[in-house]
Order: sequence, then structure tokens, then C-alpha cells
Amino acid sequence: MLDLTQSFGASYQEAVKRIRAAYRPSIGKKRRELITPALILDLDVARRNIDFMTTRLRSLHAKLRPHIKVQKSVELARMQVDAGAIGVCTATVWEAIVMSSGGIKDVLIANEVVGNEKLVALAQAAKSGHFTVAVDDARNAESLSKAVSRMGSEVGVIIEIDVGMGRGGVRSPSEAVNLARHLRTLPGLVFRGVQGYEGHCMLEPNRDVRVRKAREAMDCVGKVIDQLAQSGFGSEIVSAGGTGTYDITGADPRVTEIQAGSYVFMDNFHGSLVPGFSKSLTVLGTVVIQHGNTIVFDCGRKSIGIDFVQPTMVDYPSYAARYFAEEHALFDVDERCPLKIGDVMEFVPGYGPTTVNLYDAYHVVENDVVTDIWPIIPRGPGHGGLLP
Ligand SMILES: Cc1ncc(COP(=O)(O)O)c(C=O)c1O
Repeated sequence: MLDLTQSFGASYQEAVKRIRAAYRPSIGKKRRELITPALILDLDVARRNIDFMTTRLRSLHAKLRPHIKVQKSVELARMQVDAGAIGVCTATVWEAIVMSSGGIKDVLIANEVVGNEKLVALAQAAKSGHFTVAVDDARNAESLSKAVSRMGSEVGVIIEIDVGMGRGGVRSPSEAVNLARHLRTLPGLVFRGVQGYEGHCMLEPNRDVRVRKAREAMDCVGKVIDQLAQSGFGSEIVSAGGTGTYDITGADPRVTEIQAGSYVFMDNFHGSLVPGFSKSLTVLGTVVIQHGNTIVFDCGRKSIGIDFVQPTMVDYPSYAARYFAEEHALFDVDERCPLKIGDVMEFVPGYGPTTVNLYDAYHVVENDVVTDIWPIIPRGPGHGGLLP
């Protein structure tokens, strides 16, 4: 069995120290002087995105609980909480533990936690932190209950509802009620409400269709919370929404919190769909090959997330990539593009979360100069020092 009391503090702190030391020579450099490929976080822009979301949510019903699987950074999470977020969501138990140990007081794992080591790690972390977990299965809930009761701790649970995405979640209001009744019998678990993430709506380019689909999804949530209430289960938490639907789902009076995360960075995936935010995350690459109008950068798929939508050059957004190989990003340009071998260019990722996960640190840039290094943890083998 894992003993995180011994390993967590020292090895995690060690990982943070090692990452900061490795990237320290970059501090003071201009953003386009960095060794490529380099992950750049424009903190001025990220701050504006956080402020914009805070302002927008003031006029909506729901509060904000940003999903930090996007950025995997305690520093950014703290900025979001300081700006009024009620806590954070995570995808993994390791992210949740890092956030809690980094001072975030209310952590929701917006996912099912399965596997003995993960359950034990969570149960142990719950002795000092405040965690809530999504469940959609009675046996998984029993395993969670066993782990926390053995540890003498307690976690909140919310029932995940499938609102049309077909991923996690109970498939009907009656399934939700049965699961809630079962949860009541399990020691160490405190029922707190529901989650209905409408991920299938995020990609919808037509705003009217997105609004309709997101409302239909929240009607599924509404039916479940009504039946739960009739059976004596009040939902203190009704969690839903992402960047593509934050203002639609956030205006629904039944929803208490929004799980949007990508708004901090905005990538090409979200950028065209959601107005008001700017792009704060870029990858710096160098032209390493040029033949005629074909230029090739050193930031291929191992350096930038290409899911859903292709990355684009910051200065020349109209050129579409021909393809992204592992270490090569290939563009066909024309005489208007002056880039030549050795020149650098920043790229907006296609998808932010799968870009961040490729790096262990952000170059934090203010006023175009690197002012800090922020570790990206947990990721990679050993989960950033969380495992012995
Ligand atoms: C459960 C859940 N909530 C919220 C989000 C956040 O969405 P976004 O990054 O688009 O803001 C995601 C994204 O995948 C998710 O899976």
C-alpha cells in the first residue's frame, strides 16, 4: 500500500525545486529569446482572462469552479481562487492532491476515482484537505467508502449524470436516486449533489444550436435533481459547464457552479467559439528547414497539442499547417512570409490541455520578459514526485 505521509512532502517539493532550477537561466530573457520549443504563459493576458470571467460571472447565477486539468498549475489556480472562484475541479486524484497541498481549500475531482492506490491516496489526503468526488457506480462508491473509513477520513460525493455525452454518469433519474440511497448507507461519504458535464455541446460552432443543446442537457440535470429532492436528497452542488457553454449553463438557475477551465489560455479550439478572451498560451518554435515556400519548425506534436484544431503562427495566422509530425511542424507559405532558417515564431496551440501536459514548466512572461518559472505538476512518470 502507498504511504504518502513519507513520500509526498519531500519528493514533491524536490520535483518543484528541480524544475525551477532547471529553467532558472531563462528568467530575464525576452520571450522570443528562449530555447525552443518553449512553453510560454503570458501572465498579463491570463490575468485579463481571469478578470473577464470574474466580471461575466457576476451577472450570472452560477459561481466558478475552474477545471485545472487544463493548466496543472497551483499558481494559476490560486489566482483563480483569489479572483473569486469557489475552489477547483480536477480530472485526476494526483491533480487534486497537488491542489489541496498547494492551499486550495475546496477540491472537486470531476471524475470517478478507481484503483486501490488512488483511493488510498485520496483517503489519506482527505485527512487534511477537503475533497468531493464524482461517482456513478455503487461498487466504486463502496471501494471509496472502505478506503476513507479505514483511514478515518471523509469525502464528499456527487452523482455524475450523463447529459448526452455518453461518457460517465448515471443514465436516468431513477438510477441516480438508487445510487443516492446506497451512498447514504456508506460510511465516510457525504452526499453533496450532482454533476452533468455537457461536453458534447462544446464543439458546436453554431451558437443557437449550442444554446439549445446545452439547455437540453441541463434539463436532464433538472429532472435528476427534482427526483433526488422528492426522495429526500437535496443537491447543494449542481456542477456543469465548460468554456464553450459557461454563459449559457451559468445562467441556468438550477446550476450552482461552472467547471470552465480553458478560458485562462484560450486555444484555437475555443478561440473561435467564445468571444471576450485572449490567447495567453503559446509555444515558441524555430525554423529548422526551408525549401522554397515550405518551412519547417521544431515544434511538432511532441511540443504542441493538435487535438481538434491545428495550431497557428501568432504573426501569420492565415497560413494553415500542412501537418505536424513528432518533431516537425510543416507550413507552406508564400513570398509575404519572411521567415527563414533560424528565425523563431510563437504558435497558438490547437488544444491547450494536451500542450501543457507535454512540458514540465511554464516560462511566465510579463511585459514580454520571463519573470518566473511555474512547474506543471503532476504529469509524467511518478506523477511529479507524488509516488514513492
Ligand atoms: C468534466 C469536465 N468539466 C469541465 C471541463 C472544462 O472544459 P473547458 O476546458 O472547455 O473549459 C472538462 C473538459 O474536458 C471536463 O471534462
